[in-house]
Amino acid sequence: MKHLISIEDLTTDDVVQVLDTAEALLPIALRERNSVPTLRGKVVCNLFLEDSTRTRISFDLAAKRLSAEVINFSAKGSSVSKGESFKDTALTLDAMGVDCVVVRSHSAGAPVQLSSYLDVPILNAGDGWHQHPTQGLLDVFTMRRHLGNLKGRKVVIVGDVLHSRVARSEVQALHLLGAEVTLVAPPTLLPPDVEGWGVTVATDLDAILPEVDVIYLLRVQRERMQGAFFPSSREYAHIWGMDARRLRLAKPDVLVLHPGPMNRGVEITADVADAHQGVITEQVTNGIAIRMACLYLMLAGEAAIPEVVA
Ligand code: NCD
Repeated sequence: MKHLISIEDLTTDDVVQVLDTAEALLPIALRERNSVPTLRGKVVCNLFLEDSTRTRISFDLAAKRLSAEVINFSAKGSSVSKGESFKDTALTLDAMGVDCVVVRSHSAGAPVQLSSYLDVPILNAGDGWHQHPTQGLLDVFTMRRHLGNLKGRKVVIVGDVLHSRVARSEVQALHLLGAEVTLVAPPTLLPPDVEGWGVTVATDLDAILPEVDVIYLLRVQRERMQGAFFPSSREYAHIWGMDARRLRLAKPDVLVLHPGPMNRGVEITADVADAHQGVITEQVTNGIAIRMACLYLMLAGEAAIPEVVA
């Protein structure tokens, strides 16, 4: 992998390689083993031009556990807030000799643009509504750890698909691993090109729940909404939200995932969130291992991870 910009650029073998590498690195992510010196001397720049909690911290920890040096760069507090262009910011980073840039931006396409300015690997940490590939990878990793092979497994993705870069990466990653995806969303929050996604679209969430292995809840992304996409939060919660009554319709061992941050009381009730907090927290921890795997595969060259890989 030169860059990681979209799941669309990956094959099934690529995804399996990332997941298997993350599995080998998980003991370090879980802090059961010490960090490894694999990326000593490499400089990873986290260029975060949009707010983030877990993705930014996760990339930071992932790079540090591989012993890379990390520069954390956010728009606030940098020359970006003085009006410096994206290109000039990129060239400045280049002049400082960074080995890799992890970029998050509200503009779809920013990582591709960056890859045209810089000659180092670019890792997309979320660009607008477009892609969030490491989130898709950490989610299928979490599902695989619970369910084994995902071929033929049924996943329902519920909520604000229209504004969700996570949904786009998620569907593609699930398809590469052979899972079947159904989307359930308010009609106003389905993307216009959904017919090309290769998914089933359903309207009755209750009817689909008994069949699924995984319920993936998306955040209602108010910051991306101009205008009303549904009448009220209460109505959204009533029709599309996951609550205890609805969850009882699903298999007892169904997995409930959410990329975070959650809107408790909207797409998920507090009791369901708390009852399934274990897996949602696992997603966060697994995210460190997945990001370590991506950095390792993009930057380590021939270096093995002797301390971890037996
Ligand atoms: C997602 C994001 O930022 O796209 N969150 C995340 O990275 N964990 C999803 C979201 O904000 O809803």
